[in-house]
Amino acid sequence: MSLSLSGERPDPPADAADGAWLACIECGATYAPFEEIRYTCDSCDGLLEVRYEDNPALEDFGDEGDQRGVWRYADALPVESGVSIDEGDTPLYEVPTIEEEVGVADLRIKHEGMNPTGSFKDRGMTLGVRVAEKLGVNRLACASTGNTSAALACYGARAGTEVLVLLPEGKVAAGKVAQASLHGARILEVDGNFDACLDIVSDLADRGEAYLLNSLNPFRLEGQKTIGLEILEQFRDQTGDFPDRIVLPVGNAGNTAALYKAFRELVAAGSLDPEEVPALTGVQAEGAAPMVEAIEEGNDEVRRWEEVETRATAIRIGNPVNAPKALPGIRETGGTAVAVSDEKITDAQRALARDGVGVEPASAASVAGLRKLRESGDIDADEQVTCLTTGHLLKDPDAAAAAGADPEPVPADTEGVLDLLE
Ligand code: F0G
Repeated sequence: MSLSLSGERPDPPADAADGAWLACIECGATYAPFEEIRYTCDSCDGLLEVRYEDNPALEDFGDEGDQRGVWRYADALPVESGVSIDEGDTPLYEVPTIEEEVGVADLRIKHEGMNPTGSFKDRGMTLGVRVAEKLGVNRLACASTGNTSAALACYGARAGTEVLVLLPEGKVAAGKVAQASLHGARILEVDGNFDACLDIVSDLADRGEAYLLNSLNPFRLEGQKTIGLEILEQFRDQTGDFPDRIVLPVGNAGNTAALYKAFRELVAAGSLDPEEVPALTGVQAEGAAPMVEAIEEGNDEVRRWEEVETRATAIRIGNPVNAPKALPGIRETGGTAVAVSDEKITDAQRALARDGVGVEPASAASVAGLRKLRESGDIDADEQVTCLTTGHLLKDPDAAAAAGADPEPVPADTEGVLDLLE
């Protein structure tokens, strides 16, 4: 079963709930969405995705008038409402200096760092934690490079459910650990990288110890799909067109998969022609680039990197679990993938800050990737581009302080300050 842009539309299974069900992307097996806990296919272990009998058109969103952010798109989601603290509806910024320097027709930044907990993860959690309530689970868990744990801790607290997070010791930015801690999650520091944390938490979930809210969970990606819907609407409002390309940082490739799914559903609804679908362009750090390797080598499978390292700790991931959904997304939309150095990531973080957009390092990878692909000629000067920035500057205060200028000590009098300003 291929994840193509204009795939055939099978009939809904008899156990669909309100026109939604789960389907295996490999063998096509279908499951009722809310009856049992399941993360992958029973028969072939393939990834699952939510499918719908009807896909709403872009024009249909917002006509009920009373729902905002992620829940403005409720008709494209498998439940009507979430455990919500007003996630989504993030700004799409102009960045004139970078646009001019990079040399593209239009450049906008979709700043997901402006979500309630400071990253796009909130979009998935509002939905995922509501589904957990429907399933009646009593412990939520995730492995995380930081942002997922912050969001899960917050939404779990809101829902009054116990939260367990597994973090790679010493490799999670300070703001994120602080959030998980204050929102009351139980934090386990694992002597291993993110991929090892995810192996363990997946095991715990399979043994029924906790409900898994990593992006392997298909409901999370439904919430994240709304990033793609918002980008299309906002870009068209601002420029009159849809963007030709969306450049985004890639870790587990959940967003790449989710955006592609949003566009496939809009094609099915007749809102987008397949040629209008933005080219999904993934960016990884050089020290953690298994998706880039697979795209460059034309492989159908991604080789797990055991050793990964980058200053952009959010995307310090060697085994992108959503690759089977994301690789077709990159290929079918005419996109590509590129790796950037930590130095270029920091340069891009500074450039964004100069245009007034404060992001964490992983987010800046998108702009670093755009720069690199413009230099190589893979992105044309006449393209209209959106870069996704996934997390807020304050998530990683140490990286921000290291990239910025140092404070200067002065004596406590005006003359002393004036002397220094001379
Ligand atoms: N950017 C930020 C700031 C992230 O936190 C993540 C993932 C990504 C990009 C990559 O997104 O996985 O959809 O390709 N962070 C996860 C976490 C892994 O645990 O917070 P992806």
